[in-house]
Amino acid sequence: MINYEAIKPLLFKLQPETAHHVAECVLRLPNICQLPFNFFTTSHFIADDILNQEIFGRTFLNPVGLGAGFDKNATMIRGMQTLGFGFTEIGTVTPKPQIGNPKPRMFRHVEEETIQNAMGFNNEGALNVTKRLKKRFPFTTPIGINIGKNKLTTEQEAINDYIHLIKSFDKLGDYFVINISSPNTPGLRDLQNEAFISELFKQAKALTDMPILLKIAPDMTQEDAVTLTKMAVACGADGIIATNTTIDYSLVKNPKDIGGLSGAVLKEKSFKIFEAIAKELYGKTILISVGGIDSAEEAYKRIKAGANLVQILSGLIFHGPDMIMNVNKGLIELLKADGYDNITQAIGADRK
Ligand SMILES: Cc1cc2nc3c(=O)[nH]c(=O)nc-3n(C[C@H](O)[C@H](O)[C@H](O)COP(=O)(O)O)c2cc1C
Repeated sequence: MINYEAIKPLLFKLQPETAHHVAECVLRLPNICQLPFNFFTTSHFIADDILNQEIFGRTFLNPVGLGAGFDKNATMIRGMQTLGFGFTEIGTVTPKPQIGNPKPRMFRHVEEETIQNAMGFNNEGALNVTKRLKKRFPFTTPIGINIGKNKLTTEQEAINDYIHLIKSFDKLGDYFVINISSPNTPGLRDLQNEAFISELFKQAKALTDMPILLKIAPDMTQEDAVTLTKMAVACGADGIIATNTTIDYSLVKNPKDIGGLSGAVLKEKSFKIFEAIAKELYGKTILISVGGIDSAEEAYKRIKAGANLVQILSGLIFHGPDMIMNVNKGLIELLKADGYDNITQAIGADRK
């Protein structure tokens, strides 16, 4: 166990991005030497049979994954396994390296357990990240590769960025995620339209056997989200991730005027969009729910609503490294209490 309540005040004295760099330094250590971390992994990586499921031809030992944005450059994959994540989504990676938006660009709303970020896809670019993945390949837990266009790429040329990324990362992970839902790249969310999505999936599916998922924003009506995701699945999407951060600044007391909100204040909004999508697409595609998940109960609610998998990012910042173990242990108890032998029986229980 880690006494995060003792560490948190010190970490929270630092600028959020500095605190993230400190965490990254620690979480890179298992790359150099795994041995001292084995004890931690043994206690924190929960792989009970009741949580196992096969998706995309891979075994997911537990359903709790790391949401995109924390490990943008794939430097912490082993560290994330050590923390207990059943899968890790790296990125968003763009074709060329980019520095992202000017700092400060990440803020904490501590009382509201909410992060506001306007990072703008700061990342080392496809070449550097593919090199790193090749060095560490294969991975013991499934890896998602979240891809996005460069800031300076026009909307007309955006498709070329995604195609370039799919070619670059083919076979280096277990699934791709098309990110056209970040609020921090001007014009990106405008790509959430039928013409772009149908053309992208047509071209992309011809290039790779890796499953390709679409990640959507929470800032559209439920009707629009359902229409968009149904269309994406009809065009070949292998799954939907709902949701990215929200630009509904009314959710916090003292918002900054840039970026997107994640964490506790996103919980309801993200769930409502997810549920609307699940009502239409449960059983027809793979569904991943992300946004404000901070407990086993909340993760279980998403699973019963139709989520095959869930992801967490902000919760890790506010609740610390024991959180993933606690969510997985809690899920085991909840599944057993409802009489299930395996998580697959609970997925979509509310839809039946
Ligand atoms: C600092 C930060 C950076 C993020 N960067 C990305 C990103 O690069 N790509 C992406 O698809 N989502 C990104 N996200 C969104 C998360 O993956 C997730 O969808 C969102 O934060 C909601 O989950 P949460 O409430 O558990 O944080 C980012 C979130 C945060 C807080």
